[in-house]
Amino acid sequence: MVSQLLQRKAIAELVPEGEASGLKRVIGVGDLIMLAIGAVIGAGIFSSIGTAAAGEVLPSGEIVRYGAGPALVVSFVLLGAVCGLAALCYAELASMIPQAGSAYAYSYATLGELVAWIIGWDLILEYAVGNIAVAIAWSGYFNSLLTGFGIDLPPYLTHGYRTALLSSEPAVHALLQTAPRIAGVPLLLNIPAFAIVMSITWLLYIGVKESVRANNIMVVVKLIVLAIFVGVGAMHVDTANFVPFAPNGWRGIHQGAAIVFFAYIGFDAISTAAEETKNPQRNMPIGILAGLAICTVIYVIVGLVATGLVPYQQLKAADPLAQALQLAGLTTAGWFVSLGAVVSLTAVLLVFQYGQPRIFFAMARDGLLPAWASRVHPKYRTPHVTTVATGVAVAVGSLVLDENEIYDLTNIGTLSAFAIVCIGVLVLRRTDPDRVRPFRVRGLPVVSLAGAAACVYVMLGLPAHAWERFAIWLIVGLLIYFGYGYRHSRLRLRP
Ligand code: ALA
Repeated sequence: MVSQLLQRKAIAELVPEGEASGLKRVIGVGDLIMLAIGAVIGAGIFSSIGTAAAGEVLPSGEIVRYGAGPALVVSFVLLGAVCGLAALCYAELASMIPQAGSAYAYSYATLGELVAWIIGWDLILEYAVGNIAVAIAWSGYFNSLLTGFGIDLPPYLTHGYRTALLSSEPAVHALLQTAPRIAGVPLLLNIPAFAIVMSITWLLYIGVKESVRANNIMVVVKLIVLAIFVGVGAMHVDTANFVPFAPNGWRGIHQGAAIVFFAYIGFDAISTAAEETKNPQRNMPIGILAGLAICTVIYVIVGLVATGLVPYQQLKAADPLAQALQLAGLTTAGWFVSLGAVVSLTAVLLVFQYGQPRIFFAMARDGLLPAWASRVHPKYRTPHVTTVATGVAVAVGSLVLDENEIYDLTNIGTLSAFAIVCIGVLVLRRTDPDRVRPFRVRGLPVVSLAGAAACVYVMLGLPAHAWERFAIWLIVGLLIYFGYGYRHSRLRLRP
């Protein structure tokens, strides 16, 4: 049985399958870099940065995490290095195995079916569950934009139940008492978050080319808005705000990094587009590494300006960047940033809602999920069944859940997937040394061991509840695997 669980898919088998999947190759290298920026810059920098800088305290007074303070820039640099190591490993695997399943497909070829399943299951935390947080952050900025136009939706239709329950903001926490009730249960639903996810699902359903074009426009808007934030904000930085630089010492930097890691997630998401990419052997590594490098530089600059504009405690808000500008008296610029956040978060939602169905698609094609999940739409040639399933699940989650607890769960799942990918590169060098590697990581085994260790170190900065939920998630995943995937795996059923 152990040898069956460790059974690996031959890479030679993965690649032709990638060629013949029926998906259209329409994405070039420029589109890929834009997709990476579209996926990466989002809720992490626009929203989780507030909790990362200021920390988090529950209504009961319990400290969930310590904030980094102005030393948030150190957290960003640290994460840039950690993700750089993982990105190199991703790039080698993505160039060798240009397949829709991303890390899932790579681990199938390197570490065997059981690990591949675990990674695929972790990637659900990264893509689908992560998008729940992005949708909630989107809703926060969307509501502040509406308020700017004088439109106020009732708060019980813009806050999910879990957000009201966990918020230390008295007005939000009080919604538990003031919201209308149905059968005694407070009606607390985040309707804008639900609506945006359903709209994006429709866009993805009707076809990839249109979606990539929409993404490119949104990325340009995002870069312009961040340039406005930095340009206007930099002139109002007060260096007194940088003191004390690290109010909670290394613990704050570490725990801040563990939540703001969310800002880096996504450079790997473009690897799920490998089957729709032209010349993936060359374009995949370029797209991944260039995207990560650009985003790291942007974060360090934005982090410096944000913590220089206002005392770091004031960044604790649903819209920290807009808030920082407004508190510094820059109201118009703050409004532009809110608008930019809405656009940026839309782009993130788009890339992740694009990636998740393709991972399900790859898993279903391998027999680990039911075959209906691998159907391709006859007209649009998109994996429409999994697109709709993902859309509905994310939309419903974003109706009721809380942003911060989702960041934690997403980060722990993603970091564990990154760690496994780092090890996978090393294993494949040993088990399949002669295969052509269009992109080769230099400095193995150091890069891969250091990458895996660094990911685990960042995970250790997350609160205990994240670990507990992650353990439950893994147990549920294993039950599904042994209940379904193990028996239906195409690799195993083969004569
Ligand atoms: N990195 C993405 C974001 O920050 C997931 O929204």
